[in-house]
Amino acid sequence: MELKTHISVKDLNVFYGNEQALHNITVDIPDKKITAIIGPSGCGKTTLLKSFNRLIDLTDGIRVSGQIFVDGENIFDPKIEITHIRKKMGLLSQRPYPLPMSIYDNVAYGPRIHGIKNKKKLDEIVEHYLKESSLWDEVKDRLSAPASKLSIGQQQRLCLARGLAVEPAIILGDEPTSALDPKSSQRIEQRFLELKNDYTIVIVTHILRQARRLADYVIFLYLGELIEHGPAAEIFENPKEAITKEYIKGIIS
Ligand SMILES: Nc1ncnc2c1ncn2[C@@H]1O[C@H](COP(=O)(O)OP(=O)(O)OP(=O)(O)O)[C@@H](O)[C@H]1O
Ligand SMILES: [Mg+2]
Repeated sequence: MELKTHISVKDLNVFYGNEQALHNITVDIPDKKITAIIGPSGCGKTTLLKSFNRLIDLTDGIRVSGQIFVDGENIFDPKIEITHIRKKMGLLSQRPYPLPMSIYDNVAYGPRIHGIKNKKKLDEIVEHYLKESSLWDEVKDRLSAPASKLSIGQQQRLCLARGLAVEPAIILGDEPTSALDPKSSQRIEQRFLELKNDYTIVIVTHILRQARRLADYVIFLYLGELIEHGPAAEIFENPKEAITKEYIKGIIS
């Protein structure tokens, strides 16, 4: 089956000051699949992920060359508005950062910014995305409670709901379960497996078992270089490069 590309990275180099974090990364990320970015600490996983929505722009002294096409548009084109790119992507970070407001307002935040004011419509949106994130049943009776009162696992699901409510096409996750207990991690993983029918998902993980459970495609980075990428089964069962083999076997970490 022909794979549709959603994000296409061409010759991407990223420098923090004089230090180069990514070297000539070229990779196509398929539409409506889960792609896992794996590799040892410091190899550039977060840098690559944050390049996709240009969140790396916020870092002082950052320098980028190359191109990233999302839906065929080069996101580094000076004519492109950053909000246009960011709206396409929901980001989950390692720790949940709910906004300092109620559960309801967290989910309604994005839609309100995009001009939705009607109370009934907002109610529907909030309910829909809390259900999408498997949080509705736990919070439906206390929607006006502060988000900070939720457990960490619930907060991460709330952040997922908040991200989904702006109707992105891409979900980015930077070790999105690393602060969660096993049960909450499992819930997020389960949601990802269901959400990939509708979204392109890219997650950074250093948990190889998680990558095996979730990923359709894998990108293996080492010291800022893309060593190997391809279908998960190939990378895990039959990697081409010796260094990938060693990482998968746990010889290097
Ligand atoms: N804000 C920054 N300023 C300077 N150097 C940075 C910055 N962020 C990352 N780096 C450097 O870039 C390289 C890649 O970092 P990055 O955070 O992308 O790695 P990572 O693979 O996500 O690591 P980890 O698994 O530990 O999260 C590292 O050498 C790191 O020191
Ligand atoms: Mg990281």
